[in-house]
Amino acid sequence: MSLMTYNKVSVPSFMYGTAWKKEATTRLVQQAVEAGFTAIDTANQLIHYQEALVGDALLALSKQGIARDRLFLQTKFTPANGQDHRTPYDASANLMTQVTQSFDSSLAHLHTDYLDSYILHGPYQRQGLGAADWEVWTAIERLYQSGKTKMIGISNVTAEQLSQLCARAATKPMMVQNRCYAALGWDNEVREICRTHSIVYQGFSLLTANREIFADPGIRAIAQRLGTGLAQVVFRFAMQVGMLPLTGTTNPQHMKDDLQSQQLTLTSDDVRLIETIGM
Ligand SMILES: NC(=O)c1ccc[n+]([C@@H]2O[C@H](COP(=O)([O-])OP(=O)(O)OC[C@H]3O[C@@H](n4cnc5c(N)ncnc54)[C@H](OP(=O)(O)O)[C@@H]3O)[C@@H](O)[C@H]2O)c1
Repeated sequence: MSLMTYNKVSVPSFMYGTAWKKEATTRLVQQAVEAGFTAIDTANQLIHYQEALVGDALLALSKQGIARDRLFLQTKFTPANGQDHRTPYDASANLMTQVTQSFDSSLAHLHTDYLDSYILHGPYQRQGLGAADWEVWTAIERLYQSGKTKMIGISNVTAEQLSQLCARAATKPMMVQNRCYAALGWDNEVREICRTHSIVYQGFSLLTANREIFADPGIRAIAQRLGTGLAQVVFRFAMQVGMLPLTGTTNPQHMKDDLQSQQLTLTSDDVRLIETIGM
């Protein structure tokens, strides 16, 4: 199963996220790929991610015969306000240079000469898009035009910001990656814009942002009827409404369980119930 962006690149339907894995990153990425994940998300941001350790896992996997072209690699440019003292670029350089340096260092960390998806980790301001956002987006567009990344995208974006980007950018994002709260209709406003523009919507923290829904008798009844866990029901729901879910599990059994969600089928009543569960 895969999704398709408007520039006709196919994207795996489930992604393994590597935030907060610290020194376990190498082992967990290897385990995730061995379990069946083909898409990996990271960021060039040492506060939360160990991109170079993702690269170590990729080297080990290639020695096992899992070549780079069988994997979908996504990483991010994190603006200086989201970095600590270990900024992976010269933060005093202009923004265009910052993006280029960060991108080149990501390629080196991941031992590759191209990315499948390159994401702006978040706009510089909470509302609207400012001069810095446009400058960075232009730098990211150039990476796409150069062929060094097959897709570009943006994360932590509001509906207003995404609409502006789609209306004014030379190249619209192909990917959006947002934290997905059930209480906000699973980010329905942003997902609607993605649907309109054929942008792939990636939902993260589907479990950790929505712990309250696991007490809901409706979703518990669905899991019981299907003989599966609550996490799998949430991931399957995400897929059936057109999202690409990320899982951040650190448990090899949960990796397999999460992948198993692709085999489930929710009825339209199930989907309707979950869509409105936290609202
Ligand atoms: N763009 C951004 O700003 C941003 C921000 C945050 C995250 N992300 C991306 O999204 C990824 C996922 O985020 P997340 O870690 O918050 O996602 P998540 O999958 O919602 O949360 C992970 C938690 O869910 C548990 N879990 C997963 N599968 C389970 C299962 N089958 N049964 C029971 N528990 C299960 C994990 O426990 P176990 O470890 O015990 O399985 C872990 O505690 C990150 O790694 C990162 O790549 C991006």
